[in-house]
Amino acid sequence: MEIPKLKIGGITADIPIVQGGMGVRVSLSSLVSAVANEGGIGTIASVGLGDLDALEQEFEKECRENLIKEIHKAREKSNGHIAVNVMAALSNADDLIKAAVNEGIKLIMMGAGLPLRLPRLIEDDSVNLLPIVSSGRAASLILSTWDKRYERTADGIILEGPLAGGHLGFSLEQLKQPEKYSLDILLPKVLEVVKVYEDKYGRKIPVITAGGIFTGQDIARMLSKGASGVQMATRFVCTEECDVSQEFKQAYLEAEKEDINIIQSPVGLPGRAIRNKFLKDLEIKGRLKIRCPYRCLSACKVSEARYCIALALLNSYFGDVDHGLIFAGENAYRINKIVTVKELIAELLAELAAA
Ligand SMILES: Cc1cc2nc3c(=O)[nH]c(=O)nc-3n(C[C@H](O)[C@H](O)[C@H](O)COP(=O)(O)O)c2cc1C
Repeated sequence: MEIPKLKIGGITADIPIVQGGMGVRVSLSSLVSAVANEGGIGTIASVGLGDLDALEQEFEKECRENLIKEIHKAREKSNGHIAVNVMAALSNADDLIKAAVNEGIKLIMMGAGLPLRLPRLIEDDSVNLLPIVSSGRAASLILSTWDKRYERTADGIILEGPLAGGHLGFSLEQLKQPEKYSLDILLPKVLEVVKVYEDKYGRKIPVITAGGIFTGQDIARMLSKGASGVQMATRFVCTEECDVSQEFKQAYLEAEKEDINIIQSPVGLPGRAIRNKFLKDLEIKGRLKIRCPYRCLSACKVSEARYCIALALLNSYFGDVDHGLIFAGENAYRINKIVTVKELIAELLAELAAA
């Protein structure tokens, strides 16, 4: 079987695999360039690039400069397709998007909030905008708003289902009914919404599914149901190239199914993480002291937050996992070895071809 390519606007990736953005330094230039070199789309996560000890006024500048550095480093290692993921909940989201576009990034993925104003920030038509949604309703709201306000549509939609890692676009109640909100159920609804705008704008709007996709067979199933590609994150953590600490990867390797839990993040959204010492200690302590000069997340309720999520994720990045939060997808427990990105993608493509 010939491996289908993934077309997004004017961009064609040789394989239908997007490596999902993983915040607070999990997906930086090393992982991203390795994926891009294999023909996929590598996504730099723009959240959490500032030094938490920086002076307040330096913080935003540092986040921007470090994002630019990562884009340059990724480009030095790869001529492939590089995307930037921006969380709508970030207080400096606009600044990061403008910096990425100035650096010539042609793919912007935006989630963790509704990117209703995104087209306003970007005049260049060659920049492809991909909202990340978790329902047909969210897709419809974004596409109708963009259509009315900006007379433009999305260049692709990332549909993230309930099995994903990190922050989730579902309520705790919805997460208790995974069968009702599975990708297989959500995908036709999103395809139906997208069809209206495909007809109106006379072009394909690829839908890329994410969340719990683990094998080439999973990819084949998604493609057979109408997805144009898949976004995968969890599996890329346990690669040699992934930018995060060895301790973070080790926590994935050691995790059992029951260790992968839903948490309530200080951002106000549920998230999926490994129930490690940090989370167990938090259950006892209730709350950790927070020093917050920046308000990096506009949605973060600092006075109510039980811990600083930026610091907790940063600790894990550096290897202090006992004081850190480890985001992971539902299937993280199925990973049992660290491989290279080349090996992982070869395995996925062989399974996809066989399926
Ligand atoms: C460690 C980790 C960090 C993540 N950080 C982000 C992020 O910063 N922004 C975002 O939009 N999605 C984030 N995600 C979600 C992924 O991009 C992806 O859509 C999802 O995890 C796919 O499901 P999978 O991990 O089962 O493959 C994160 C996921 C993980 C595992």
